[in-house]
Amino acid sequence: MERFSLEGKTALITGGSRGIGYGIARAFIEAGARVVIAARSEGPLQEAAASLGVNCIGLRCDVGDPEDVAALIERAWALGPLDVLVNNAGISPYYKRVEAVSVAEFDQVMQVNLRGAYFASVEAAKRMFAAGRGGCIINVSSVAGIVPLERQGVYAAAKAGLHQLTKVMALEWADRGVRVNAIAPGWVETDLVDELFASRHGERLRADIPMGRLATPDDVAGAAVWLASEAASYVTGSIVVIDGGRQLR
Ligand SMILES: NC(=O)c1ccc[n+]([C@@H]2O[C@H](COP(=O)([O-])OP(=O)(O)OC[C@H]3O[C@@H](n4cnc5c(N)ncnc54)[C@H](OP(=O)(O)O)[C@@H]3O)[C@@H](O)[C@H]2O)c1
Repeated sequence: MERFSLEGKTALITGGSRGIGYGIARAFIEAGARVVIAARSEGPLQEAAASLGVNCIGLRCDVGDPEDVAALIERAWALGPLDVLVNNAGISPYYKRVEAVSVAEFDQVMQVNLRGAYFASVEAAKRMFAAGRGGCIINVSSVAGIVPLERQGVYAAAKAGLHQLTKVMALEWADRGVRVNAIAPGWVETDLVDELFASRHGERLRADIPMGRLATPDDVAGAAVWLASEAASYVTGSIVVIDGGRQLR
């Protein structure tokens, strides 16, 4: 089991103040890692960091802003070289048919869900190359990047883009020891989808999940621990689907 340990590793998790990111942060700490979590809202971020104990600190960042992303990686790195970056911060602010989406709405989702992960990865990887100790990047994408979901056109395109980005970065960075993988969850019980599942669509969406229930953040966190650990040292460019069978429908 030693190969599954994260003892001695340092990880940065964007969107770590709640939901899936918080679940990953907790699991990483349980596996022995020191963790930096990042999010926009300072109060909830510091509360989350405090609840995770002495091996966690919170740094404010909006991943939609490239300057903020560069500053985050610099500040996190100053606390100790990063072994793991989890690009988890993501938004799904509307459910609209493609023809109803404005340019501003398109840009908002792309900037956070795709551009944020792109530049955070680049900033972290450059430092990982220079340190010469390899590294691991995990992108939290979505099953929406694999199967088409109605009223999620921009979100789905961003997540599909994240899948291809994962593979290209894995290919380009394999020779420098930086592994890049993605986790594609199906529906997970978090604030992101609360309203949707409480709406008239909720029952139909739940009925579409072969396992008959939404995931919890813990259902997703185990794969993140594995990907970050030495047990996954030969895994790169993979998309790990955790969806209760949703993509099979
Ligand atoms: N829940 C699902 O069913 C589901 C399914 C598939 C994939 N996912 C993906 O999983 C990831 C996490 O989702 P979740 O369900 O855990 O969402 P969530 O509960 O809404 O949490 C989102 C986290 O990201 C942070 N965040 C949002 N925008 C940010 C930004 N611009 N910069 C920095 N941090 C930001 C939030 O904090 P602040 O608001 O304070 O910034 C929060 O910590 C997302 O990438 C999402 O697309 C979720």
